[in-house]
Amino acid sequence: MGKGSRRRRDDGGRHLSLEDSEADCAAGGRQNSVGPDASELTPDQIKAKIEADTVLWNAKIEALRNINLQVLEIVKRKDAKELSEAGEILDQACESCHLEYWYPAEKDLMKRLDRRLKGQ
Ligand code: HEC
Repeated sequence: MGKGSRRRRDDGGRHLSLEDSEADCAAGGRQNSVGPDASELTPDQIKAKIEADTVLWNAKIEALRNINLQVLEIVKRKDAKELSEAGEILDQACESCHLEYWYPAEKDLMKRLDRRLKGQ
């Protein structure tokens, strides 16, 4: 699959490689946002959510921006270990926004999985 190409949401869109660009996030697709088992918000719902609280939306963007700036510094230092750790934080910055705006229905699922992983 080429860089920037659309991928299906249910094929693990959240297990992303760093080469996926922010351009991939442009709202517009409806892949799994209609029908009885829809797990994703529609583009209109996403837009409404963004407009209802632009502070939260901007905070998510800011979080992504900050970790990316750190990653750039780490790359300059060529510190592979730190890069791997920063990569996880970067992934969380993507995921935390997706859980809020893309597939919020999975928020509870994630909490349940977390609890199970921690053996609670
Ligand atoms: C500020 C919020 C936000 C952040 C941060 C964010 N995303 Fe997204 N992303 C979205 C939203 C909202 C969608 C759903 C768009 C839609 O329904 O078309 C999305 C969708 C996507 C898609 C699917 C695109 C499609 O049309 O199927 C990919 C791939 C993606 N994001 C990658 C990433 C990666 C990689 C990162 C981190 C480097 C990231 N995103 C960070 C908001 C965000």
